[in-house]
Amino acid sequence: MRTTVGIIGAGPAGLLLARLLHRAGIESVVLESRDRAYVERRQRAGILEQGTVDVLREAGAAARMDREGLPHHGIELRFDRRRHRVDFPALTGGRSVMAYAQTEVCKDLIALQLAEGGPLLFEAEALEVTGADTTSPRVRFRREGRESTLVCDYVVGCDGFWGVSRAAVPEGLSRTFERTYPFAWLGVLADVAPSHDELVYARHERGFALLSMRSPTVTRAYLQVPDGTDPRDWAAPRIWDELDRRLETDDPAWTLRHGPLTATSVTPMRSYVHEPMRHGRLFLAGDAAHIVPPTGAKGLNLAVGDVTTFARALVHHRDTGDPSRLDAYSATCLRRVWQAERFSYAMTTLLHRAPDATPFDDRIQLARLDRITTARSAETDLAEAYTGFPLTPTERKSR
Ligand code: APR
Ligand code: PHB
Repeated sequence: MRTTVGIIGAGPAGLLLARLLHRAGIESVVLESRDRAYVERRQRAGILEQGTVDVLREAGAAARMDREGLPHHGIELRFDRRRHRVDFPALTGGRSVMAYAQTEVCKDLIALQLAEGGPLLFEAEALEVTGADTTSPRVRFRREGRESTLVCDYVVGCDGFWGVSRAAVPEGLSRTFERTYPFAWLGVLADVAPSHDELVYARHERGFALLSMRSPTVTRAYLQVPDGTDPRDWAAPRIWDELDRRLETDDPAWTLRHGPLTATSVTPMRSYVHEPMRHGRLFLAGDAAHIVPPTGAKGLNLAVGDVTTFARALVHHRDTGDPSRLDAYSATCLRRVWQAERFSYAMTTLLHRAPDATPFDDRIQLARLDRITTARSAETDLAEAYTGFPLTPTERKSR
């Protein structure tokens, strides 16, 4: 097989890249190791930055999102039984976010790719990327028990943290930066209307809680739990009781609606960046290059930024012969990646109580929350980061 762009992985990064390239008249082939049903039922994040919404609309992939997505103009920070709303448009000059599940984004992109795009091969496991430092990199893959080779002009590794593409960067050129956290998230889906019309991020001495949503009738919620927690140890009554405690407030008008749980899972927390995000004709995008703790809702949005940057750079090269934007891919993406890492780390350490937290640590967290909820500059930094960093980073101000 031969194509212009070989894409490994049909998560949001790979699927959106295939869509963007198709819309630009550039052919690609997507190799996905899992089957369609598995990809379409994975529960992941649910917040789209304004930039992501714009890219999906430009790509002609936003029809259902615009019908079913829920625009959100703020979030609530809850601590010490207090409620504080962060007003996104007021702080960012009009930016907001959209509550629309990553699962739904992937379903929409798969349907479009199968209907209009190039080959999207499910149960096609990439085994190795070779020739990244040549003009025809190759992906060896296995499908239906047979090994084949996809010959490409470019390969984009969108195969997530556990994929194979990163291994094609020579070890001597790879630099990784990592932090793991001593806690995880227990996530639940419940068939009950959300108890608030925006997301609630709660810092509590018992641990962090997040109240999110998937639709006007489905609640999504998370609890900080010790790393390595088995979800089977958390029955529904215990989950609702803990959410009640951590979301407690002095506001008598607010209560948490309980309902039947339909899914429970545990997600570990990690910060990770691989540099560079390019080697020769191999480009890394999304979780294949970086991981953020989910507190800042950045994972999907970073993946969108990476593949949008690559697609625009490739089109520019095709139309002008100028390779400079492709050459700048890694540096361009990493500026945005590190800002998202900074924000995700800040939100995670602001709201989660580490098992070894001291009274001093508690007071620092409360002082940081006090600063954010009383100083417009601090609140603006949170609102700007949460609603999204520009795809084309602002020029560094000369001193
Ligand atoms: N061959 C083919 N496909 C592979 C291989 C392989 N060797 N290894 C992994 N994959 C597939 C996975 O099955 C998955 O469908 O690559 C895809 C990677 O998708 P994601 O992990 O979702 O990564 P990405 O597209 O970068 O999206 C990042 O997804 O996991 C969330 O929190 C993350 O929100 C973030 C977003
Ligand atoms: C979600 O709805 O899954 C979600 C929302 C916001 C986050 C993390 C997860 O910060």
